[in-house]
Amino acid sequence: MSRCSSLSLLPLLLVLSLFFTEGSGQTRARNLTDPKCPPRNKNFAGTTGHICQKSCERRRCARSRNCLCDGHCGLSCISAGLSCPWPVKIQNAETQLAQESNMFGDFMKVVCKPGFRMADGEDRAMSRCQGDGNWSFTAPCTDVLDLSYFCTPPPKIENGFHEDGLFTIGKEVRYWCDYGYRLEGASSLFCQENKEWSHPAPTCHSVNCSRPPNVAQATLVAVHQSEYPVGTVIYYLCKKDFYLDGSNRVVCLENGSWSQLPYCRARCHITAQRSRVVYHGRKLWINEIPDGLVHHGEIVRFFCRSQNKTCSFQAESRCFDGVLPLPDCYDEPTYLQYHFFPKRVVSEMPSC
Ligand SMILES: *[C@@H]1O[C@H](CO)[C@@H](O)[C@H](O)[C@H]1NC(C)=O
Ligand SMILES: *[C@@H]1O[C@H](CO)[C@@H](O)[C@H](O)[C@H]1NC(C)=O
Ligand SMILES: *[C@@H]1O[C@H](CO)[C@@H](O)[C@H](O)[C@H]1NC(C)=O
Ligand SMILES: *[C@@H]1O[C@H](CO)[C@@H](O)[C@H](O)[C@H]1NC(C)=O
Ligand SMILES: *[C@@H]1O[C@H](CO)[C@@H](O)[C@H](O)[C@H]1NC(C)=O
Repeated sequence: MSRCSSLSLLPLLLVLSLFFTEGSGQTRARNLTDPKCPPRNKNFAGTTGHICQKSCERRRCARSRNCLCDGHCGLSCISAGLSCPWPVKIQNAETQLAQESNMFGDFMKVVCKPGFRMADGEDRAMSRCQGDGNWSFTAPCTDVLDLSYFCTPPPKIENGFHEDGLFTIGKEVRYWCDYGYRLEGASSLFCQENKEWSHPAPTCHSVNCSRPPNVAQATLVAVHQSEYPVGTVIYYLCKKDFYLDGSNRVVCLENGSWSQLPYCRARCHITAQRSRVVYHGRKLWINEIPDGLVHHGEIVRFFCRSQNKTCSFQAESRCFDGVLPLPDCYDEPTYLQYHFFPKRVVSEMPSC
């Protein structure tokens, strides 16, 4: 029952104080209609030794039980009239009920004797009567200078490090890996009541990217190897006449994958042959455009006939990776129109 982690306790109490209303009711926890009750987090509740009762988040409770908010256990079926033991003796501390009763949801004030502290360094805490009939917090107060309340220094790890501090019972120590290394195992260890760490220290493993993928129409500029360490930079160069879409600089990321690859986009053939188009603001025949090709992303305007066939208007299309679609309204002039009635070619008609 006294397996309380000091780290989880304080925030827990702060949060809990929000869940309970002031008042003189026997059970002061709110019920199902309370939207503030957190969803059940059994693992978290477990770290403090809190045993959860049947959940009533979805189901109703048996007759003799009420659906009440039990901290991190969420809405739970609590025995009617449940109480926690009283009086309570806690080593090196004074205890006092915060109200007249010791029923579910009531609080007990725990104050350390002078010269003694709780594992989190505080000298007082509020302990709540939980749905399992235990007080949420009964860890002894310890002599500030008494080494028997400390865990051994947290183990050092290769290619990684841990946070500094004095690690008394209930404290947490966090681990990180150096850049380019991935953590395996528990990233936090808890100093347990037996003064041993809760888990073995994590390990750090180097991360590599595998061979970079091919990009169509590109040449890779990189030292040839089978694995590339995190942070390696490689470049892609597009072949002649291909447009670089994206960044040509690609980096091996910390998760072992390469950053976004670029594309090499092809130029587009203008497929209209027998009418002029507007390109770069000029009205041109196709043979006036070098190779009849435009670059990826460029816009070409085509001429279309008005519905009454007396004038022309422009419709645009954009070149995307080798494809320049003809606008729906565009009709390629016939051989006859082009050779014998050049004035009737759509691009040569007056504009609307
Ligand atoms: C806490 O509650 C459990 C189950 O309700 C019980 O078995 C255990 O003895 C209690 N612990 C203490 C210290 O009262
Ligand atoms: C929940 O509480 C409200 C008022 O506090 C009460 O009217 C209602 O009957 C209670 N519901 C249940 C299921 O206990
Ligand atoms: C990553 O590459 C380095 C250097 O080539 C090598 O020592 C290490 O074992 C590799 N790591 C993995 C997880 O393959
Ligand atoms: C690696 O990280 C990048 C950027 O954070 C992300 O876009 C990518 O999806 C991740 N790759 C994998 C395999 O998780
Ligand atoms: C033909 O249509 C265009 C617009 O669609 C209009 O501007 C023009 O006046 C019309 N001409 C005739 C002769 O109706």
